[in-house]
Amino acid sequence: MNAFAVIHPGLEGVVQAELATLGVQGEVVGGGVRFEADAARVARLARTMRTPSQLLVELVSGTAKSPDQLTGLLRRVPWKALVHPLAKIDVEVTSRQSAVRFRDVAARAAGHTIKECLKGPFVPDKEPRPQLAQQVQIRIDNDVATVSLDAGGDLLHRRGWRTDSVKAPLRENLAACLIWLADWRGDRPLVDPFCGSGTIPIEAALLAAGRPPFGRRRFACDEWRGLSREAIRVVPVATGAPISGSDHHAPSVLAAQANAQRAGVKVSFRHLQVSDIEPTGVAGTVVTNPPYGSRLGASVAPVYSHFGRALRERFSGWTAVFLSPQPDFAMRVDRGAERLAHFKNGGIPVGVWAVRV
Ligand SMILES: C[S@@+](CC[C@H](N)C(=O)[O-])C[C@H]1O[C@@H](n2cnc3c(N)ncnc32)[C@H](O)[C@@H]1O
Repeated sequence: MNAFAVIHPGLEGVVQAELATLGVQGEVVGGGVRFEADAARVARLARTMRTPSQLLVELVSGTAKSPDQLTGLLRRVPWKALVHPLAKIDVEVTSRQSAVRFRDVAARAAGHTIKECLKGPFVPDKEPRPQLAQQVQIRIDNDVATVSLDAGGDLLHRRGWRTDSVKAPLRENLAACLIWLADWRGDRPLVDPFCGSGTIPIEAALLAAGRPPFGRRRFACDEWRGLSREAIRVVPVATGAPISGSDHHAPSVLAAQANAQRAGVKVSFRHLQVSDIEPTGVAGTVVTNPPYGSRLGASVAPVYSHFGRALRERFSGWTAVFLSPQPDFAMRVDRGAERLAHFKNGGIPVGVWAVRV
């Protein structure tokens, strides 16, 4: 069976690398990584992986030049084997250069077909009644339809611990991608001087503790039939390296503290201007998401200069990995900054930049 890990275009290599650490070889395609896995494995990966935004099981793929052909394709899926007969089914259709163009009509028809397929005389009493909707995605590209089931049921960046939010929070799985690109594996100090709601340090602390990135949330795959419910065991790094965050906005610091408490991790958060940040050890890593500012960005440019000065004055021997919406901002941090990746964050093109101080 094929499976697909979705991620923002530009970060596919990070997801591929995380899969590799879990013993799964995948192939990068635009917007994700395709790999071989059965539903049980995908369900375990969904509760374990940090970097993807979605994990999909591809149930069937084939030509669908007409609504009838699409119906025929959907009927080939052994729905009852995976989905509870009483589950609510949500269907989303995307179509590109294909004869089946009316996405809403196709989605409604597909929903009916799946419900038909799920009908039967049995609903074993011992199976708990389903609570969550199952999300079916149908992607039709050049008249070839791929029908997938979303293991999370909701985007995987929704970890369940970040309920206190502030302006412009970074998606948690993107924070995990930055930590990955910074090559930080819990073995040295980590500092985020623009921590906002604390996303990056909290993700880092969960990684260092060897815990899955999720707090209280549910997964659609929890309700798939006949699968074991354990997650893949992740090995703790647990070196006790200090992890900290700071921000000049006091309410953000309070939000970060509340989120860390909810995630059950120990992170030190302080109310500080970026110019006042201090290293928390030697040869650590700064991983951060500075403000992007207005479209012209004029107002935030000095913030990048202050950040660069603080690094040069006090963080010798450290590495910094940060997002920047403009190469000149990155140059204000350090003229030797090197771009590691680029992607769109909330529709804004951003680079992931690295500096060796
Ligand atoms: C893009 S947000 C970071 C969001 C964060 N990664 C999160 O997930 O919530 C940028 C943060 O930088 C902070 N900031 C802006 N200028 C600052 C400065 N001069 N010193 C410290 N923090 C600053 C803002 O208060 C804001 O929280």
